[in-house]
Amino acid sequence: MDNHLIYLDNAATVWPKPEHVYEFMLKFYRETGVNPGRSGFDLAIEAGELLDRLRKRLTKFFGGDLECPERLCFGYNATDALNLIIFGLLAEGDHVVTTNLEHNSVIRPINHLVRDCGVTSTFVPFNSEGFVEPDEIRKAIRPNTKLMIVNHGSNVLGTVQPIGEIGKICRENNIIFAIDTAQTAGVIPIDMRAMNIDILAFTGHKALMGTTGIGGMCVRKHVELRQTRAGGTGVRSAYPYQLEEYPWRMEFGTPNMVGIAALWAGQDWLDENGVENTHAREMKLAQRLVDGLRPIDGVKLYCCGSLKNHLSTVSMNVEGLEAGDVGTMLDVDHNVATRTGLHCAPLVHQQLNTVALHGSVRFSIGAFNTEAEIDAAIEGVRQIARWSKERQAKRSAAILVHA
Ligand code: ALA
Repeated sequence: MDNHLIYLDNAATVWPKPEHVYEFMLKFYRETGVNPGRSGFDLAIEAGELLDRLRKRLTKFFGGDLECPERLCFGYNATDALNLIIFGLLAEGDHVVTTNLEHNSVIRPINHLVRDCGVTSTFVPFNSEGFVEPDEIRKAIRPNTKLMIVNHGSNVLGTVQPIGEIGKICRENNIIFAIDTAQTAGVIPIDMRAMNIDILAFTGHKALMGTTGIGGMCVRKHVELRQTRAGGTGVRSAYPYQLEEYPWRMEFGTPNMVGIAALWAGQDWLDENGVENTHAREMKLAQRLVDGLRPIDGVKLYCCGSLKNHLSTVSMNVEGLEAGDVGTMLDVDHNVATRTGLHCAPLVHQQLNTVALHGSVRFSIGAFNTEAEIDAAIEGVRQIARWSKERQAKRSAAILVHA
């Protein structure tokens, strides 16, 4: 194996991006990099056209309401969209149901509303396999539950939640259902209408193959969000408040056009390669990783007994070592890039009892990883686990000598 970096941190951001994305971004920004929707010259109109065509394309991609693509609103990333959704829906007296699988982009906004604004919340735990049970979700509902918000795919465990079943429960109980697709958009096909999803938050820089700094939300036609931010929209500038109409209701200031171009090209790549095909290829590598790690003495894997309804994200720890130490050894000694720690999902680690180990070591496989890279990562863990065992044995022997 040569000395190249084995990048297994695709859950943090997919890297590298397809060549087509780099080329299209550069060409678009060089040739059409003006401010869309603010001016009437041809180039500005052309830039605005890409934005609007992408609204339609992504609305279709997510199974949103095709008759109102303006409800596909762009922002910075999933965190940005989730803040606008949570603060734009909940008010004093409301109850929100969510899960222990959430990212801080959901946990923290909810906690602020609970602490400061008279909102109440229920966090539903996941089962031993890393899934939230629809029955537990149903039990958490109260008469004043306004919003259910669920992480579609866990960024720590890789488990994919039964979104269709949860959506059905929300529809039956007249509760707004929002999902965080940071890890699943571009990986798992989503159909908002069929799955009763009212609002979907996405980020562009992961499996949608775009850049950092672009993301947004798709809002179904029957849902209204309060504006919690205001600013320039480029239209009806004399109106003294943020506009009521979408997309301006949820878009503020000059958009990230490089990101828009990258997302457009990412859609091209996904059309050509297929969401399901790409996921199947990644899952073959994930299975290879799990099969290689499981027999290693001292390795503990979390929630990947079966990789059904799973992303190509795998978390583990090595006995006798903190997660961060394993990550450093993988990086320095084996050229393997992982993410260690709590992964901005502290409740997952509380439930797994991994906070004392400072979280876990997360491998997240992407579209461009190879079998040889997975094998090298397994070998790296094997050596680290062996070293840890030997160190533990030496320490025990030293304690016996001194006793
Ligand atoms: N939330 C991203 C991750 O899991 C950044 O790494």
